[in-house]
Amino acid sequence: MIETRTRSLFARRRKPTGSGRADSELAWAAFQQLDDPVRVLTEDLSVAFTNTDVAKCPGVPPADAAGRCCGEVVPGRKGSCDECIVRATFTDGEPRRKEVWGIDGNGDRWVTEIQTKPLRDSKGRVRHVVEIFRDRSNEKRLERQLLQSAKLITIGEVAAGIAHEIRNPLAGIRLGLDALDPNSLSDPAAKDILDDITRDIGRLDRVVSDLLNFTKAKASQPEWFQLSALFNQVCRYIRGTAVQQGVALKVEVDPPDLKIWADRNQLHQVLLNLLVNSLQAMPGGGTLELQGRYSKSINWSNEKKECAGYRLIVRDTGCGIPEEHVHRLFDPFFTTKPNGTGLGLATSLSIVRRHDGEIRINSTPGEGATAQVLLPEGPKRR
Ligand SMILES: Nc1ncnc2c1ncn2[C@@H]1O[C@H](COP(=O)(O)OP(=O)(O)OP(=O)(O)O)[C@@H](O)[C@H]1O
Ligand SMILES: [Mg+2]
Repeated sequence: MIETRTRSLFARRRKPTGSGRADSELAWAAFQQLDDPVRVLTEDLSVAFTNTDVAKCPGVPPADAAGRCCGEVVPGRKGSCDECIVRATFTDGEPRRKEVWGIDGNGDRWVTEIQTKPLRDSKGRVRHVVEIFRDRSNEKRLERQLLQSAKLITIGEVAAGIAHEIRNPLAGIRLGLDALDPNSLSDPAAKDILDDITRDIGRLDRVVSDLLNFTKAKASQPEWFQLSALFNQVCRYIRGTAVQQGVALKVEVDPPDLKIWADRNQLHQVLLNLLVNSLQAMPGGGTLELQGRYSKSINWSNEKKECAGYRLIVRDTGCGIPEEHVHRLFDPFFTTKPNGTGLGLATSLSIVRRHDGEIRINSTPGEGATAQVLLPEGPKRR
């Protein structure tokens, strides 16, 4: 139906060259070759015509969505349609550009850029708007990854340098304090002051040690092991807290006997960090899911591979993460908790990177967060 109307629209707009039909066929064929989905919309937002790639890009409304907001008709689409750029372009004839995003069935965040351009009739009235979609999900993920790597390296190097510089004078101060006899000081408050200083030095010492641990990358020693066994082990650590907080824990491995290739201890640490974060986000109870599955094809950010791998998912129904924090989650020392060090996710990311994998965290504020650890498939077993 749409195609028929499209062809006739192309035909009506043909140049009077004498070979008009051939021209419109050519224009139609060229239009179908465009990589990016394109829709041409009428004022009631119904689709006058579109190219065949529409289904390839996330966030494109289905053909029968005439007059309805994209948020209503695009599954997983987040964000408001209050500032619909198609309607705005119809109103003032100005081209526009914006990004929309959502979460797909795998829990991955997609980002699509939409551009609108007016099509005017001979009197200058905007009769149609062209809408061009570009899937920017991979670009965005890669951008974020590169930024995170650069930050991790820079912060790691600076932190290691500072930690070394602080450690020696700190040891000197501690020795000096130990050598001091508080009773020899004339000020009666001196003992309390010395105790405070000793306690603060202890704190500084812990921060310095945490920092040095974080920056010392331990090589991973991968092995084959049963994922369900690791899940059971890690759940033993958190079950008590989950029960106390009224959090229902759901664990699933698909297939149940799935074996994966990773450094078991390091992966234990990663899962524990993610699960603890989830529990901390649900002080008033909720549901915490831990899932592991084999995926034949993973949409890796780095397009070096379209290969199979493992998807480990930690999903909670907690407070969620405000949009403005999402870019900072993996920054060392980024924390919103009074007693957090902000090293949990940064450390987890370094570990997963050493496995040639990725961590993705998506959240809908107020509804919860989903963390995914993606690991490439291990070597083929003989
Ligand atoms: N599941 C989650 N729900 C809500 N916020 C989260 C979640 N996971 C992480 N965050 C946010 O990310 C921040 C950084 O997490 P990260 O684990 O790196 O540090 P932390 O938990 O604050 O401290 P710690 O070093 O003790 O782990 C948290 O402070 C929190 O704001
Ligand atoms: Mg944490």
